[in-house]
Amino acid sequence: MGTLYEANNVSTNEDNIYTRSPKVISNVKEDNSTKISLIFSLNEEIGALGKALHIFEKHGINLFHIESRLSRQNKDDHEFYVVCDNSMGSVTDAIKEFRESSKYIHVLSEAHETMHESTPWFPRKMRDLDQFSGRILSYGSDLDADHPGFRDVLYRKRRKEFADIANQYRHGQPIPHVTYNEQEISTWGTVFNELTKLYPTNACKEFNNIFPLLVDNCGYNESTIPQLEDVSRFLQDCSGFRLRPVAGLLSSRDFLAGLAFRVFHSTQYIRHHSVPMYTPEPDVCHELLGHVPLFADPDFAEFSQEIGMASLGAPDEYITRLATLYWFTVEFGLCVENNEPKAYGAGLLSSFGELQYCLSDEPKVVPFDPFVACVQAFPITNYQPMYYLANSFKDAKEKLRQYAMTIPRPYTIHYNPYTQNMEVVDGNEQVVNMVRTLRNDMDIIIDALRKAQVKQI
Ligand SMILES: [Fe+2]
Repeated sequence: MGTLYEANNVSTNEDNIYTRSPKVISNVKEDNSTKISLIFSLNEEIGALGKALHIFEKHGINLFHIESRLSRQNKDDHEFYVVCDNSMGSVTDAIKEFRESSKYIHVLSEAHETMHESTPWFPRKMRDLDQFSGRILSYGSDLDADHPGFRDVLYRKRRKEFADIANQYRHGQPIPHVTYNEQEISTWGTVFNELTKLYPTNACKEFNNIFPLLVDNCGYNESTIPQLEDVSRFLQDCSGFRLRPVAGLLSSRDFLAGLAFRVFHSTQYIRHHSVPMYTPEPDVCHELLGHVPLFADPDFAEFSQEIGMASLGAPDEYITRLATLYWFTVEFGLCVENNEPKAYGAGLLSSFGELQYCLSDEPKVVPFDPFVACVQAFPITNYQPMYYLANSFKDAKEKLRQYAMTIPRPYTIHYNPYTQNMEVVDGNEQVVNMVRTLRNDMDIIIDALRKAQVKQI
C-alpha cells in the first residue's frame, strides 16, 4: 500500500477549516519501490472488481491502492484507479490483458521513467499539469456521507457541474465564468462579512495591503463571488502566480508540483448553504479569501514556489515533509509584525474561529525552523496547538532553501520563466546559459547603481 491523502478537517462548534495538506490514511509501505498508476474501465460492469484483482494476482503484482469511481470519460461507466508496484510481477503483461478487456486504460505515471533512476516523475512544462488535473483523491463531485450537502440533490448536481469544468480544463484556456446563484452568493456574503471584520487586526500587513486591490480589481465584496479567471489575471500581473480549476483534492506531490510553476489549483464550488461557517474541504471561500491575497505578494509567491520546486522529483518521504511544511506555513503560518504575531496562513485567514484563537495565549508559538517543523505532528480535527512564527517571508524562504538543499536529488532544477519549463541542470551548457543570464542581470544592476549615484551627486 502506498501513501494516500485526504482532506484535513478541523471541526469546531463554530467553524471548520480545511487545507490541502495531507492526511495519511494508509501508509503501509514507505520505500523507494517503483510505482505505476493506471486508470481503466472494464467492458463488463458486473464483477469488474473481482476480475481486475484476478488479473493483478495472475501477473504477480502487488497493489498499493485501488479505488472504484465514476468514469471521467463516460458518466454512465465506472473506472478503477490503481497504484501498483512495478518492481514485482509483470505489469506490462497485465496492461496487455487489460487492454483486451477494457473500454480504455491509461498509464498515468511511472516512478522510474525519467533520465535518472529512482527519481519520481515530475512535470517539465506547465502544460504537463494537464496530466494530473483529473487525478482527484477525494471529494470532487462524490461527497462523503457526513458532508453537509450529501443529501441535497441540487447541491450534488451543482458540484458535478464544477467538477466537469475542472476536469475539462486545459492549460492556456481561460477559466470558464460561473454564474453563482443567490443561495451561493448569500453563503459567500456571510463568510466574507465575518472574516473581513478580523482582517485589519489579525491578518499580516501584506495581506491587508493587497486585499483592497482585490476589491478594486476583482470584485471582492459581500454580494459577488469573484471569478477565478479575473483573479488569476490579477495574480499574474502582480507575481506571475495563476489559478487553475480543480475538482477536489490532489495528492501532495501533484499539488506541490503546481506551485513550482506558480500555479495554484483552486476549487470553484462553494460550501453547502446550510452551514456557511463550516466546510469539510477547500472551497472557493477558502481559496479566494485565505490563499489568493498573499499569492499577489512577490516574497510570498517566491516562498510558495520554493516549496513546490523542492518537491520536484523528491522521494516520497520528503514529499510528506514538504507537505507538512506547507501546512505550517502557507496554511497555518504566523509572522512577526512590530513584535506581535499576525496570521498569514490561508487556513487561519479563512476561519473566523481560528483566526482569533491563533493570536490568543492558548496555542504555543515557536520560531519557524523547517528542519523541526517538517516532522512535527499536527491534529486535523481541532485548532492547531502549535504555530510556527516566521520573521518575514524572505527569511522563511531562505530557511526553506537551506532545507531543500538537503533533499536527496541527483540534479539541480531551474525554472525558466520565459519558456515555463523546468530545466534539469546537469551539464555545462545549462550552467553557461545561467551564468550568461546572471551577467546580464549584473549589468542591469551596475547600470542602475551608476545612475542612482549620478542622481545623488
Ligand atoms: Fe488551503
